[in-house]
Amino acid sequence: MASSLSPAPVPMELHVINREKLLKSMRQQLTETSRPLHGFVLLQGGEEQNRYCTDHTELFRQESYFAYLFGVIQPGFYGAIDIATGKSILFAPRLPADYAVWLGEIKPLSYFQEKYKVSMACYTDEIVEVLLEQYKGSGKPLLFLLHGLNTDSNNFSKPAKFEGMEKFETELSTLHPILTECRVLKSDLELALIQFANDISSEAHIEVMRKIRVGMKEYQLESMFLHHTYMYGGCRHSSYTCICATGENSAVLHYGHAAAPNDRTFKDGDMALLDMGAEYNFYASDITCSFPVNGKFTSDQSLIYNAVLEAHNTVIKAMKPGVNWVDMHKLAERVLLESLKKGSVLAGNVDDMMVERFGAVFMPHGLGHLLGIDTHDPGGYPKVFLGTERPKEPGLKSLRTSRDLQQGMVITVEPGCYFIDALLVPAMENAHTSKFFNHKVIGRFKDFGGVRIESDVLVTANGCKNMTNVPRETSEIEAVMAGAPWPLNKK
Ligand code: GLY
Ligand code: MN
Ligand code: MN
Repeated sequence: MASSLSPAPVPMELHVINREKLLKSMRQQLTETSRPLHGFVLLQGGEEQNRYCTDHTELFRQESYFAYLFGVIQPGFYGAIDIATGKSILFAPRLPADYAVWLGEIKPLSYFQEKYKVSMACYTDEIVEVLLEQYKGSGKPLLFLLHGLNTDSNNFSKPAKFEGMEKFETELSTLHPILTECRVLKSDLELALIQFANDISSEAHIEVMRKIRVGMKEYQLESMFLHHTYMYGGCRHSSYTCICATGENSAVLHYGHAAAPNDRTFKDGDMALLDMGAEYNFYASDITCSFPVNGKFTSDQSLIYNAVLEAHNTVIKAMKPGVNWVDMHKLAERVLLESLKKGSVLAGNVDDMMVERFGAVFMPHGLGHLLGIDTHDPGGYPKVFLGTERPKEPGLKSLRTSRDLQQGMVITVEPGCYFIDALLVPAMENAHTSKFFNHKVIGRFKDFGGVRIESDVLVTANGCKNMTNVPRETSEIEAVMAGAPWPLNKK
C-alpha cells in the first residue's frame, strides 16, 4: 500500500514560540527571586561523532534541548537568547573551504538567520565579542547554562563551553528546570508534528500487520516499518530502536538492541509484540501493537491480550487534568489482575495482590512516560514540585513520572502483561505471593512471551485524546490482517 499521507509542514515559528515561552518563564523566575533581567541563556548544540577507530560519521541528530529552542539540524552550533531584549542569536561553525567539495555549499549566515527565524546569526568564533557587545548591563554578563539531571538516563546535560568564558559569569542551576518544564506542555504546532509522527507510524504498523507471514524474520517487520515511515513520511530517524519481538522474545522488554537484533524466524502460533515509532522533525511517536503472527487469536492469546486492552482502555477513559499518574498505573494493574483472575490464571483477593505489589510480576515497567522531542521526554520528576519523588515499590519505581496530568501533556499509555521467568519463579516460591497463582494454569503460559499495547495520548481540558490510530480490538486486528481497510467499514 502506498500512503494517504504526505509529510506535514514544519513551521519554524514552532521554535520561535518555544523561545518566547522560555523567555517568559526565565523573566518571571528572575523577577520572583529579585534578580536583574539581564544576561543570556546559552546552549551548545550537538557535535557530529565518528566511531572511534574510523572516519565513518554517524548520522547527526541534534541535542534535544537545543532542537527545542532553535530547530537547527546542523552540528557544531551555539544558540543564545538575550534575557533583556529577547533577541535570539545563532552561532554557526566557520566551515573549511573544502567542505564545499565534499559536503556541499557553505551557507552564508543570512541563510541560517532566515531559515531558523533568529534575530542574528554569527560565527562560533565570535561568541565572546558578540555577547559582550549586545550586553546592556554592568559588570560581567551572566550566562545561564544548561546543567541538570535527566531522570531517565541518569546523565547530566552538558553546559556550553567556549574559549573566552572567563569574560562572563556563569550560572548552572536556573535554566535546566525552567527549560525542562517548558517542554512538558506542548503547543499546537508541536502537537501537529507529534500527530503526524503518530499518523505515519500508525499507518506503518497496519502495513506490517497486513504483510506479516509465518516464517518471516523479525527484522523484516522492522524493515517494513522503517521503509513506510521514511518513504511516505520522510522520517529519517526513528524515535528509538525498533522492538520486533515474537514468541518468547516478547517477554524481553527492550528486545531489538544490538545483542538481540530482531533476528528470530517466527512460527505459526507465536504472538508478535512490535514497539516502533517514527520521529518527525525531532518529535517522537511511540506505538506498540501486539497480535498473533498468523492473524488469528487463540483463546489464551485473547485472554492475555484482552486483559491488557481492558487496562489500556480503562486508563484512557479515566485520564483528565488533575489525575495522578501513579494512580493510573495502579488502576492498570488492578484491571489486569482482575482479568487474569477472571481467566483463572490467578486466584485470591485482588486487594491483597495490590498490597503485595503483585502486579509488578506481570508488568514490571511503568504505565507510560511523557513524550515529545525525546521518546522519554524530560520533566517526569521536577525538583520544583513537591510530591513528585520517585516511588520505590516494585513496578512503581519504574515509572518515569509520578505527576498529576495537565492539559497539553502527551503521555504514553502502555500497559503490558509478560511471563518472565526471572520474575515468575521467585513470586511462585514466595510465601506471600505463591497463593495468588493458579498453579495448574500458569504453566500453559511459560513460553507465551508477552503483550504490550501502547498509545500516545494528549491530555485535553476535560479528558484526553488518543493520537494513535491502529486496530485494537481482536476482531479489528483479525479483520485488518485479513485485508480489511482501516478504519473498518462498519455497517
Ligand atoms: N519504546 C520505548 C518505550 O515504550 O518506552
Ligand atoms: Mn513508551
Ligand atoms: Mn514503546
